[in-house]
Amino acid sequence: MRAGSTNYSMASVKEIAGMLALDQPGDIEALYAEARNVRRQTSGDIVYLRGLFEVSNQCRKDCFYCGIRASNTDVERYQLRYGDILSSCKWAMQKGFGSIVLQAGERQDKAYKGWIERLVAGIREISGDVLKITLSLGEQDSETYKRWYDAGAERYLLRIETSSRELYKSMHPADHDFDVRLNCLRELKEIGYQVGTGVMIGLPGQELEDLARDLLFFRDMDADMIGMGPYLYHSKTPMGAKFGVPDSSRQLELGLKMLACARILLRDVNLAATTALEAIRVNGRELGISAGANVVMPNLTETLYRGNYCLYQDKPGTDKDAVQSLEFLKEEIKRSGCEIGWNRAGDAPHFKARTCLAEATA
Ligand code: 5AD
Repeated sequence: MRAGSTNYSMASVKEIAGMLALDQPGDIEALYAEARNVRRQTSGDIVYLRGLFEVSNQCRKDCFYCGIRASNTDVERYQLRYGDILSSCKWAMQKGFGSIVLQAGERQDKAYKGWIERLVAGIREISGDVLKITLSLGEQDSETYKRWYDAGAERYLLRIETSSRELYKSMHPADHDFDVRLNCLRELKEIGYQVGTGVMIGLPGQELEDLARDLLFFRDMDADMIGMGPYLYHSKTPMGAKFGVPDSSRQLELGLKMLACARILLRDVNLAATTALEAIRVNGRELGISAGANVVMPNLTETLYRGNYCLYQDKPGTDKDAVQSLEFLKEEIKRSGCEIGWNRAGDAPHFKARTCLAEATA
């Protein structure tokens, strides 16, 4: 398949893998240009901001690639304070943010689940309808998802990490179950969340066909939002120790090509230019926007804690505060030819379309 040809909705694994394999600069640029075209048609040249809070790095999981895995005893564990998060939310509203993301390692104990519920309700109370709340808090039972939804969270991000069962198995301990994750995504959707998922790109042993299947997985599960980025090295992880440092130029290029293919194939989803791109290249998010992304998630976590939320090494922004990061980001977005959707929640057009369709056929 060539970038610029028309009907991508029925693209095959082979065709998508062919797009991911493009290696001539002119062809790659044409792919990005086509992705920008599709973005313009579906959501305009607007980039939405989500203020990101890395609420806690406490995690019960032990994923072989992740720096905050439970077995990494070098990590100093923290949890942000309720009052501090609320103050930062007020600041974010004043700055014109229309939504925030609460992200953390995975905890399933009752005290924590109750704390999150109160936090969501607290943010809802101070912000009214202004700040839409996205949660990215891992696998939970459906009752918990429902309680958080009822407290006022409307969107949920849960990456599938890879749609290949074998690869998933090789990257996780035996008790981390692919089917549990799939089921969580199903339940989130049933409850009514706007649902996002995603994968890591350029994993050891991952073929272009696997990535093509990831994109088809997003399409087939009818995802509203996609958050994906290159796999990166962390020395204190089993995968870091075993496979070493991946080639960063390849990781970046593959990450950008995946974004472009996702935009072309999935069209009206919200697509994030993630921090992992920025970890490879200082203007990585700008490149992501130029490859079709329409969402960025500036980190609003207090600088003091940022160094402890290291999923991978060389995570950017640990030395800059929210004000500095925001100024830098504004420049990046301007350079990419897009405008910031200030004070707008920026729901995925895909979500609106699928929920309207459900209402019409009910
Ligand atoms: N490289 C890139 N992304 C990572 N994540 C975790 N560890 C790494 C890594 N080494 C991603 C996972 C997770 C998200 C919060 O961070 O995809 O879902």
